[in-house]
Amino acid sequence: MMGHDVVKKSPALHHCKFEVPEIIFGRGLLSQIGSCARRLGGNKVFLVSDQGLFNAGWVDQAMHSLLEAGLNFVYFDQITPNPKDHEVEAGAKEYIRQGADVIVGLGGGSAMDAAKGVAILVSNGGSIRDFEGSDKISRPLPPLVLCPTTCGTGSDVSQFAVINDSRRHCKMTIMSRCVAPDISLTDPDTLATLPEEYVCTTATDALSHALEAFFSVASSTLTDVNAIRALSLLANGLVRAVREQRPEDLESMARASLHAGMAFSNSLLGIVHALAHPIGGYYDINHGSVNAVLLPEVVRFDLPVVTEKLPELAWTLGVHRDLNGREAAEVVEEKIEAMLDAAGAPRTLRSLGVKREDLPQLARKALSDVCILTSPREANETDLLRILERAF
Ligand SMILES: [Fe+2]
Repeated sequence: MMGHDVVKKSPALHHCKFEVPEIIFGRGLLSQIGSCARRLGGNKVFLVSDQGLFNAGWVDQAMHSLLEAGLNFVYFDQITPNPKDHEVEAGAKEYIRQGADVIVGLGGGSAMDAAKGVAILVSNGGSIRDFEGSDKISRPLPPLVLCPTTCGTGSDVSQFAVINDSRRHCKMTIMSRCVAPDISLTDPDTLATLPEEYVCTTATDALSHALEAFFSVASSTLTDVNAIRALSLLANGLVRAVREQRPEDLESMARASLHAGMAFSNSLLGIVHALAHPIGGYYDINHGSVNAVLLPEVVRFDLPVVTEKLPELAWTLGVHRDLNGREAAEVVEEKIEAMLDAAGAPRTLRSLGVKREDLPQLARKALSDVCILTSPREANETDLLRILERAF
């Protein structure tokens, strides 16, 4: 059995807040998207999605549900992966021009973060750059329903929106309670049409969320219980979901994403995401792939300062015997490496197109990302550069 010590060493519930939207989860429930928007008081929905979801037929289903609920809608799909400031600003103009009054985001992190960006601008005005950082939003957002269709972003429950600043070529992290939606609606059936490579990259994003949330200095019993549940689902099902893509495995990845999202939205993240944001923004490359490469190196960096949490983590990752601190650290390192290898995740920054000469400026940019504030181990520019060089 897992040592009782682990339970005693769990963080106490001092001064913590835990915020989540209303959550609806279940296969076939995309059909409820219309009733969700209607009961938030909407008449004209601004539906944000993308071409891939449209081609797969999910946008049609969403539109049908909106019409059945007696709602009008405007469809907006002028967004790209790693959504850009000008796309969000164009969306906000269109929302206002059309007189929309509720926003629905259907898709991966890009569609959902774009929906959040539009929501921020239509109620607060200005440029999306004005809201970078923590708690810069002063006016409440219009009603927002988010429907994730990947295994990993967590944007549907999180207090984060990440938008690319196209002038600086850098992702801006916007953090505010305001950007958590009113309703998170997950229909795991939508994962059936997720391209194979995205199962791996989005599930490894969820893995990074869960681990960073678990190690975060702002973690609590409420975030840990969700992080551990996510890690357990990922340890048991990630590799099979990538290889076989059976509906039940994909559903468990959607569930892992939801738990990891609830954890990181409230405990925040760490160095993986602080580094992944400037890298993803600068090269416009897939977020989950960058995380998968950075995760083992950041975990290695964090291990010496999270020793009390390692036995519970090792147990969750499937090693059911008593371990001392050093053994638990080895197990955690090995298990994460093995999971990423077996899933076929990318393993070097070089393979993603990152250039060695850019590493110093990427390390410098990461120092000002809000995610670094909750890293369990303080890191300076030299530490960050060393992590990048090891991951190169
Ligand atoms: Fe992420």
